Amino acid sequence: MDQQPVAGGGDSGDGGLPAPVIGVVVVAAGSGTRLGAPEPKAFVSLAGRSMLERALATVLSLAERAAIVVVAPPSHQQQARDIAQRIGGFARDHIAVVEGGATRQISVARGLAALPAGLEAVLVHDAARALQPAVVFERVIARVRESGAGVIPVMPVVDTIARRDGAGRVIGQVDRAELAAVQTPQGFPAEAYRAALVATITEYTDDAGMFAAAGGAVVAVDGDAHGFKVTTPWDLRRAELLLESERPRVRTGIGIDVHAYDEHSPMWLGGLYWPNEPGLAGHSDGDAISHAICDALLSAAGLGDIGSRFGVDDPRFADARGAVFLAATLEFVRAAGFEVVNVAVQVVARRPQFSPRRHEVEALLTGILGAPVSVAATTSDGLGFTGRGEGVTAVATALLSA
Ligand code: CTP
Ligand code: MG
Repeated sequence: MDQQPVAGGGDSGDGGLPAPVIGVVVVAAGSGTRLGAPEPKAFVSLAGRSMLERALATVLSLAERAAIVVVAPPSHQQQARDIAQRIGGFARDHIAVVEGGATRQISVARGLAALPAGLEAVLVHDAARALQPAVVFERVIARVRESGAGVIPVMPVVDTIARRDGAGRVIGQVDRAELAAVQTPQGFPAEAYRAALVATITEYTDDAGMFAAAGGAVVAVDGDAHGFKVTTPWDLRRAELLLESERPRVRTGIGIDVHAYDEHSPMWLGGLYWPNEPGLAGHSDGDAISHAICDALLSAAGLGDIGSRFGVDDPRFADARGAVFLAATLEFVRAAGFEVVNVAVQVVARRPQFSPRRHEVEALLTGILGAPVSVAATTSDGLGFTGRGEGVTAVATALLSA
């Protein structure tokens, strides 16, 4: 069997720290017949990351260090090692990869054999339960420690369960209050579990079933709705849609505005009046920063741009201040169901000298939008129209959340 060393059993490989006392076997050696994908089920992508990768990432997110063994099909040893390396990062020495067998129970036994001796508790987890959250692992570990028993995470059974006879006739109902759907990870006191597995001759689909048959006590803790096993194509799609619906919905936008200097106008920029500076030409006050921000916000919300939202013939906006456009834009954005996360602006101009009033501008704009606005300024090293001092460019990006 191709086996990598796993940290534990004395020297942890963690610079003299005591070895981990928790072992986790992630079984990923099944073929996934019911899913019917070209590759073994644990290696199938679930929204861009394989199920094995997701399950391992959860184990690695536990606060307590663990010795981990991945049990993979003989055909996928290298792929499993690559995943372990990538997800393991600095903790990759904690993960070993071994070959699985013809049944889940054989795969579990091989995984267990690769864990170091002297562990306090062992967890067995299906890679196919790729979305089981870390909190369930923690709950199981804590309960094994408290009870010294085997621990299974369970979910209440929501369907009515019927009992049938051999001919398919319904002969009664089972009281579902007595029933529970069993998930993984299942946890056990390490040595008692090893002894039970070595002694068993019957094939069980579930680890606690085997442990209980050998005389071990088993108690239940709450599982999680995300801990369902991906078995069929429907399950895989369901898992993908669950991930999608939980992803924070954010959108970015960009806006640019350019105005020429106009000696005869007052200078308004970033919502502030700048005395003793040439103003900016334009239908409104020429506040390129405010206008670029409006375009970035509208672009992020998919609401067009400042020109299409505020027509040049609308008298409300003739000579209007930048702050007026910003407040009106914010209303559009909120009405479309978005909140502003932040806005960043880059100004390119020879004048005004920005740094003395940067914080004033940022505070004013942040107040108007109710979200952080940062403004940076630069000159263009004498190049182009900004370099020649003919006008101002402002580029803004906005992040919105739905
Ligand atoms: N498993 C295993 N070795 C086996 C069989 C199953 O390591 N010989 C693992 C699977 O990879 C999975 C978990 O046990 O993570 C639960 O098994 P199941 O959902 O039945 O997976 P498969 O056996 O791969 O799927 P199927 O039964 O549809 O073929
Ligand atoms: Mg199976």
